[in-house]
Amino acid sequence: MGSSYVDIASAVAREAGALINDFLARRIGFELKGEFDVVTQADRASEKLIVTRLKKEFPTHAILAEEGGAREGSSEFRWYVDPLDGTTNFAHGFPVFNVSIGLERAGELIAGVIYDPTRDELFTAEKGAGAFLNSQPICVSQTARIQSSLLATGFPSRKRHLNVNIHFYYQIAMLSHGVRRPGAAALDLAYVACGRLDGFWEFALNPWDVAAGILLIREAGGTCTSMSGAPLALDGPHLLADNGAIHAEMLHVFSEIFAGRYAFPLPEINRG
Ligand code: IPD
Ligand code: CA
Ligand code: CA
Repeated sequence: MGSSYVDIASAVAREAGALINDFLARRIGFELKGEFDVVTQADRASEKLIVTRLKKEFPTHAILAEEGGAREGSSEFRWYVDPLDGTTNFAHGFPVFNVSIGLERAGELIAGVIYDPTRDELFTAEKGAGAFLNSQPICVSQTARIQSSLLATGFPSRKRHLNVNIHFYYQIAMLSHGVRRPGAAALDLAYVACGRLDGFWEFALNPWDVAAGILLIREAGGTCTSMSGAPLALDGPHLLADNGAIHAEMLHVFSEIFAGRYAFPLPEINRG
């Protein structure tokens, strides 16, 4: 099972995850990239490890990595690397973070690996060959209605005052069993792929956040589009990823919210 790309990316992700766990155990401090944008030594060390390995294994491939480890390639292959997704969680010792590595060939996602070092859970997918959690096949949930669903979303650290997601969060939270905000987008996507979540959406994610997770969900039988139903672009303005069964209903609710029609007005604050 698994291509050499998935196998190599899995080994690299496991190695990076072990390194991140080591940083966590040593409780090394963090710095800020922007006012609220945390970056740690673990992000940089993990990225250096992953990019060095990928360059050695695949000298002609392009690489786009979050902390600047980019390289233009001479081939049609491009790796997307989030060396530590969930940095704010990591910096606070909140154990929800992961390493995410995706591979695109001529614009098509062909391999994806997401590794959660806290739980030792490795999610893998190869185009046309299915999705797996620790080598066991996974598939999306069968939940058919939003009213029976458990969903997740996220909010950016940068420019969060411009982010409109709180409106979507509130309306969907009222309609569903709940909306989680775990703080690591790649892991949210992996959880949709294995049925722990029925859907996930977020605005303004980056290609390294979503490349591996999108392939996992597609290979697990789910659906990924923009929040208005348009075909997905890795650097698109928003993403809706779900089990497919609730997709049309999610799009309908989103279209109502985009149009400013809120089914649930915010409650008054009782200052009692
Ligand atoms: C962040 C996390 C978070 C999401 C943010 C991302 P980072 O990635 O995935 O869940 O809400 O939009 O930027 O910065 O921790 O790699
Ligand atoms: Ca990320
Ligand atoms: Ca990151």
